[in-house]
Amino acid sequence: MTLIEPHGGKLVNQILDKEFLPNHSTTIELDNMALSDLELIAIGGYSPIEGFLNQEDYESVVETMRLADGTPWSIPITLPVNEGKALSLQAGAVAALVKDGTTYGVIEIEEVYKPDKEKEAKNIYLTTETEHPGVNKLFNRPDYYVAGEIKLAERQSHEHDEKFYLDPADSRELFQSLGWKKVVGFQTRNPVHRAHEYIQKSALEIVDGLFLNPLVGETKSDDIPSDVRMQSYQVLLKNYYPANRVVLAVFPAAMRYAGPREAIFHALVRKNFGCTHFIVGRDHAGVGDYYGTYDAQKIFSNYDEAELGITPLFFEHSFYCVACEAMASSKTCPHDSDQHVVLSGTKVRELLRNGEKPPTTFSRPEVAETLIEGLKKSEKAEV
Ligand code: ADX
Repeated sequence: MTLIEPHGGKLVNQILDKEFLPNHSTTIELDNMALSDLELIAIGGYSPIEGFLNQEDYESVVETMRLADGTPWSIPITLPVNEGKALSLQAGAVAALVKDGTTYGVIEIEEVYKPDKEKEAKNIYLTTETEHPGVNKLFNRPDYYVAGEIKLAERQSHEHDEKFYLDPADSRELFQSLGWKKVVGFQTRNPVHRAHEYIQKSALEIVDGLFLNPLVGETKSDDIPSDVRMQSYQVLLKNYYPANRVVLAVFPAAMRYAGPREAIFHALVRKNFGCTHFIVGRDHAGVGDYYGTYDAQKIFSNYDEAELGITPLFFEHSFYCVACEAMASSKTCPHDSDQHVVLSGTKVRELLRNGEKPPTTFSRPEVAETLIEGLKKSEKAEV
């Protein structure tokens, strides 16, 4: 049985034992996003990318949603440094990549360049407003980008149970051993509610397995913490999913909130993890009102299905309909919207933080209880 090919044809592996790291002449301090990107490049999650993007690839991604060689890629993977550091770096040198005193790997410096961040914001986030969390992050990061191939020697410490950490090579092997030919990937940064469950299970009707792959890297501060979310996913899976049809694993990337552009990125990365299909529902990776409800679906028409290599499965806005007494969407339900149970993410977070359960037609009670308990504990831990 052959598995789906990684993006670009080959699964990148830039992991090296510490003793084999080349000597470095300087160091570069990483932020959380750069550290998670470093690791995802090294384990092949971002195949065919082998390092932080050079100017040609960067501009090509920003302008055309493709690497310079034409391969589809929608989010720039960059390593920012400040002006002082930028001036001190020389092409050809090796820099250690460091965070909080730990050396995680190295970069062979190809070049250092000054990006046009206004353009990056406009093209990637479709706005330059700094209220947008992704744009805010972009403008707050230093102003020069360092490009070059990386090597990773030290993995980040794991916040979640070890069994939830699968590299693309591991998930690919696992899907193969389970005999899954069609695997649907599901990205989420939120607790799983009934609508998520409905679209996952609708997809499961036509594929062999579900790769539930919650993002656990950096998110905006009012999103539910990943440890609390992980507990809620496990409660849901235990009670409502057949164990042999689901693999739960963390996705250690930072959230960009780039809506349509990020949907393409999320799909390509899940292809590298071995998924053949990828769910894109309403306002995928969106925030506020920056993107139209289905823009993250429409953007897929910019590519041939063959060049993406992973099949997106699009779902309409789903909800519980009181009149249907079932989960539904406008594709399957004829009733007025006053029959539909729809709550905004903000409203749900507010209810949970006040210890109140959303209606059972919105959230499974066990999931709501786990979230309320988890939030209480994490708030205590913060005090
Ligand atoms: S995201 O930022 O990771 O996209 P979220 O965890 O809320 O946010 O969404 C995960 C996936 O479920 C996305 O593909 C999103 O489009 C989809 N989704 C979320 N809520 C709904 C809904 N009510 N109806 C249809 N799709 C949904």
